[in-house]
Amino acid sequence: MCSYISKKTQILSANDKNSLQLASSLLKDGQLVSIPTETVYGLAANALDVTAVENIFKVKGRPRDNPLILHISDVLMWKDLVTEITEDASKLAEAFWPGPLTIILPKSDKVPLITTAGLDSVAVRMPSHPAALEIISGAGVPIAAPSANLSGSPSPTNVSHCADDLWGKVPLILDGGECDVGIESTVISLVGDPILLRPGKITVEELSAVLGKPVAISSAIDTPLKEGEKPTSPGMKYRHYAPLAKIILIDSDIDAFINELELSNDETFALVFDGEEKFTNHPCVAYGKEHDAQSQSHGLFKALRTLDELGAKLVFARCPDHNTASLGVYNRILRAAAFEVKKI
Ligand code: TXA
Ligand code: MG
Repeated sequence: MCSYISKKTQILSANDKNSLQLASSLLKDGQLVSIPTETVYGLAANALDVTAVENIFKVKGRPRDNPLILHISDVLMWKDLVTEITEDASKLAEAFWPGPLTIILPKSDKVPLITTAGLDSVAVRMPSHPAALEIISGAGVPIAAPSANLSGSPSPTNVSHCADDLWGKVPLILDGGECDVGIESTVISLVGDPILLRPGKITVEELSAVLGKPVAISSAIDTPLKEGEKPTSPGMKYRHYAPLAKIILIDSDIDAFINELELSNDETFALVFDGEEKFTNHPCVAYGKEHDAQSQSHGLFKALRTLDELGAKLVFARCPDHNTASLGVYNRILRAAAFEVKKI
């Protein structure tokens, strides 16, 4: 067994003060802890400790060119991490922190290059989950925390997903219940003109309303990168959120979807909206209510993991709405489907 892997994993409740203190002291000590946030579970380490950050990459099997998000519990921690907190950045933090928004600014020298994967910018967010805030303030350092999945698999939204991916690899997993949002934070870069790099619960309209100016949307959100193209956000180039099954997104109404499913062989699974199971004899997994981006976001990653547990090989999936509120869930399911969409 590699030296960076701890042999024994404990799962403790995030409602218990002693467990939160243990998490903070493990983090101060350079160890990794899986912690709940309001978006997805994170694999946390001291962002300023090069060895601890290296271990995040090793444990996740994460490519070294994919930078991490730094989590803070207080805006005072932010100013040390960036060259300047611009007016736009302050406005966004004021409006959305603590909450599911990550803001990218030019980095200060204090942040090790391994944490930002060699970039001269740094992504920072203040999560709203009370346990996450308490752990970070107890540790007293910014906490690097990518989603707590092994690289490539869907982000964990409950403690059993974390245990499936991290058992025996971290000393502590904190159980903070099901994540409320269910998909990762919205990521906006303020390095140049504001640009949305990853859609999430906070929409582009909400961001531009606060900034009082337009926010561009990165084309990588809903278009595959061309051969050799360099993404603004390195995470965008990886086939994220991917279950073992092959997923095809069927962009249609329910009747056309069911027709398509009936033409396929009996083993084809359906990833449907709540209540649609009754329209077919094919095995189904539901991921949220139709036209309800928040309930779909909340359920998607769990549904993808369930499909794998059920041994699904081929899955036809219902498509979220085409509007900016649904862009987050659409972006995740599109990547799970490796951009394979059938429009009927
Ligand atoms: O909701 C979240 O943000 C969760 C929870 C745990 O807080 N964390 C999360 O981290 O999703 P991760 O590592 O899975 O995703 C980080 C994303 C990646 O797509 C990465 O490429 C991008 O943020 N990113 C980080 N730093 C960046 C930078 N300096 N420039 C551009 N993109 C950056
Ligand atoms: Mg991730």
